[in-house]
Amino acid sequence: MAAMRRLLLIGSTVLLWSAINANIGGAEEPASCASPIAPCTACHSPELARELARCIAEPWPMPASAKEMKSPFSSSDKALKFGKATYDIFCEGCHGNTGDGRGSIALKRSLPSLDISSPVVQAQTDGELFWKISNGKGAMPNWGSLLPEEDRWRLVIFVRTLRRAPAQ
Ligand code: HEC
Ligand code: HEC
Repeated sequence: MAAMRRLLLIGSTVLLWSAINANIGGAEEPASCASPIAPCTACHSPELARELARCIAEPWPMPASAKEMKSPFSSSDKALKFGKATYDIFCEGCHGNTGDGRGSIALKRSLPSLDISSPVVQAQTDGELFWKISNGKGAMPNWGSLLPEEDRWRLVIFVRTLRRAPAQ
């Protein structure tokens, strides 16, 4: 059992190392907002993520087709539970428990984050959120390179539950 755990840890460390390497490898030029940080690099390479903070101020171009994409899931309890579990592992550290962008890792390491509970974000279609989660931008990783499509749709279902009521 212990050996198995060690093997798993070594395996993921190698994966992490290659993910970091892949990013640092091309880092001679300043990091570009159009090529987002890799999923396993974001929280493990705070410097690179911080450098990409400036991207938040830039527009996020999206193909018109993104808006029309429809989720294959209805928001069942099961899909929601799965979405939350994935969010807790990969997203909560930056976007926070309530989606307000004050995640513990983001705060501790001064990583850029974003309030995804806001009306501006929540006004977008499921397809637009799915597209952004999949493709990333700047310090927002391109989760399409790590998580299967179904996982990303279930994340959208969970992200919807973070919707904050507009201020009265
Ligand atoms: C949301 C932020 C976040 C993301 C994304 C993330 N990690 Fe981590 N990871 C952490 C935190 C926090 C720890 C606990 C140790 C620490 O504080 O650095 C950790 C620990 C680890 C460890 C244990 C060794 C160590 O440094 O303590 C490995 C291996 C690891 N992560 C690999 C990965 C891989 C592979 C990916 C991509 C699938 C990934 N991580 C994505 C935040 C993240
Ligand atoms: C390293 C921190 C970090 C992690 C981890 C992270 N994000 Fe993000 N996210 C960001 C940043 C920064 C932006 C804004 C990107 C920009 O505009 O340049 C963003 C943007 C978004 C947006 C789009 C908001 C808009 O502008 O419409 C969504 C949706 C989102 N993130 C969901 C997620 C989900 C779901 C996960 C987990 C799978 C995740 N994020 C993990 C940092 C992070």
